[in-house]
Amino acid sequence: MTIKVLFVCLGNICRSPAAEGVFLSLLKSKGLEGQFFVDSAGTGGWHIGSTPDKRMQQAANRRGIKLPSLARQITEKDLDDFDLILTMDDENYDSVQTLAKRSKLKVSANIRKMLSYSRFSDLAEVPDPYYGGDQGFEDVLDLLEDSCEGLLASLDVTN
Ligand code: 4NP
Repeated sequence: MTIKVLFVCLGNICRSPAAEGVFLSLLKSKGLEGQFFVDSAGTGGWHIGSTPDKRMQQAANRRGIKLPSLARQITEKDLDDFDLILTMDDENYDSVQTLAKRSKLKVSANIRKMLSYSRFSDLAEVPDPYYGGDQGFEDVLDLLEDSCEGLLASLDVTN
């Protein structure tokens, strides 16, 4: 059985593609990538088709993590196609819940806040690094590495 996980932020060029890359890298390190389908999307559509923000890519590459995604916008169909949808901040969470309430399609995904899986942070939201400096991108990756570990530990998977 494949577990389908969708990471969601606002633009799908910083936080959620980073979460996708971090989680894929973690799965690969444990030989679990065959048991998952991993993707990311934005609640907004401004950056559709774009590669992740260069600053996010560089920060991830320094940790040996590749960010393979191209930006896309979340759809009603995603809410049924994916098992688990992880949102980066409260605004993303509310947007996905609103999409779910209005959807004419079945909604089967479990919609959760990413940092509910963090083990080391008291933050409730992954801060948007887009308008800030380089440290913001490092902080995002620290939070994502921590919460991806927590997320994987919460799922019943073995190899
Ligand atoms: P993300 O960051 O939601 O982590 O991808 C953002 C990227 C771009 C914009 C906002 C947030 N923007 O407004 O263009």
